[in-house]
Amino acid sequence: MRRLILSARLAGTADATIHTVPRAIFLLETIWFLRRLTLTLFAKLTKSMKISNSIKFTTVALAVTFGLAAVAAAEDAASKLPPASTKPGVTYAADIKSILDTSCAKCHSGDKPKARLKLDTLENALKGGKDGKVIIAGDSAKSPLILSAAHLTGDKDLWMPPPHNKAGIKPLTPDQIGLVRVWIDQGAK
Ligand code: HEC
Repeated sequence: MRRLILSARLAGTADATIHTVPRAIFLLETIWFLRRLTLTLFAKLTKSMKISNSIKFTTVALAVTFGLAAVAAAEDAASKLPPASTKPGVTYAADIKSILDTSCAKCHSGDKPKARLKLDTLENALKGGKDGKVIIAGDSAKSPLILSAAHLTGDKDLWMPPPHNKAGIKPLTPDQIGLVRVWIDQGAK
């Protein structure tokens, strides 16, 4: 480096004829210096690429872990659900409306239904609430309405009816949940 500064100073002096040789040396040293700079930068770059690769790997590993955990949690929830009833031909009108009217309609009907979810008619129930559909026709184990009623949502604010609600509305019984389940499994008609 000192030689570089020295030759830079020499190259900068006025008399070009005397300093042709130092100027050549200066040029060579500049090229050598630039080459070394490039190599250093390249080394740094590849190192940071390795780091970002390891970040990528960690991200993928975390995603897989959480993905597996989510699948395990879903399977766990499904295994804790009361079994679906075996009753054939279950319909909203004949079997389900009375249950939802007793246990849900106080908060999920009228002008200002909680979570914008109305459960007072088949059409409204199928429409869902502020977070989307709560009934997945054909798959009761994945339907938010069932997970809420069975207290199997991770978020306890979604346990329905809310425990200790002022109106004193009791949770659905396992038999009632089983009936709502088979209704959804049969296509929510
Ligand atoms: C005492 C009032 C009350 C009763 C009774 C009640 N809920 Fe709720 N429900 C709420 C409130 C409040 C929320 C919003 C909770 C939140 O977002 O934190 C809600 C939200 C929901 C949601 C989520 C909807 C969405 O789109 O986010 C579902 C599903 C639900 N209730 C189902 C039911 C069912 C099924 C019943 C009857 C078995 C029921 N609720 C009874 C008050 C009630």
